[in-house]
Amino acid sequence: MVYNNSISEIISQIAEVAGYLWERGWAERNGGNISYNITDVVDDAITSLKPLGESVVLPQPVKNLCNNYFIVTGTGKRMRYVHSAPMSNMSIIRISEDGTYYDIIAEEYIRPTSELPSHLMIHDYLIGKGRKNKVVVHTHPIELVAMTHNPAFLEKDVLSKILWSMIPETRAFCPKGLGIARYQLPGSVVLADETIKQLDEYDVVMWEKHGAVAIGEDLIEAFDMIDTLSKSAKIYESACSMGFVPKGMTDEQMDELKRVFNL
Ligand code: 13P
Ligand code: ZN
Repeated sequence: MVYNNSISEIISQIAEVAGYLWERGWAERNGGNISYNITDVVDDAITSLKPLGESVVLPQPVKNLCNNYFIVTGTGKRMRYVHSAPMSNMSIIRISEDGTYYDIIAEEYIRPTSELPSHLMIHDYLIGKGRKNKVVVHTHPIELVAMTHNPAFLEKDVLSKILWSMIPETRAFCPKGLGIARYQLPGSVVLADETIKQLDEYDVVMWEKHGAVAIGEDLIEAFDMIDTLSKSAKIYESACSMGFVPKGMTDEQMDELKRVFNL
């Protein structure tokens, strides 16, 4: 299928980021998923497409997404192949006009990720809040997930503070830090609900013992936030493996960054 320039650019960006997720070792087998709201850039070629198969009822209606269009990675699909053959590993879906079901309209009948409840409920929540969010990316970053296995790090903002203190970049480029959603069954509506609770304060949420979710207007920026937080987690791990727990920058040093960079 031939897409307009905006959609082609979005497909290239998803392919680019899928490649990074694989290279980072964050996307074992089919680990991770991406959704991109393309409603603003669809043209007649897309809106005139007919459903490729049965409509699928959503576990929870998404009233702010009626008639919205998304590119979504497929369930069971490998990020390394999303990178090399994007449209054979994801599909375009259209949410119904009442927000209760969706249709797969292009290019093949590829069922969306099992985390679709989280993706759509996050998009729905953010649009409802008047935010210009376009993307949701979920992945399994090793060191960040490892840190969620420590109960002490699950208390509010404990992990954010440790990660900020590892390197100035993290304080500067992830100024909100990250939220924590306690363990819930992958793909469940409760996991989506736990995630949404964090989104008024954070743009990245760690799913305990599972993975990270980032939101944003721009897919590259969303990836970069997880990547930056992950860099801090690696520095923390690296210091621990050298035999000491890193002290991190002091509160004064972090406050100075906040002041000087207007964070
Ligand atoms: P999907 O293959 O259904 O996208 O699932 C991958 C995953 O990471 C579940 O949390
Ligand atoms: Zn996952």
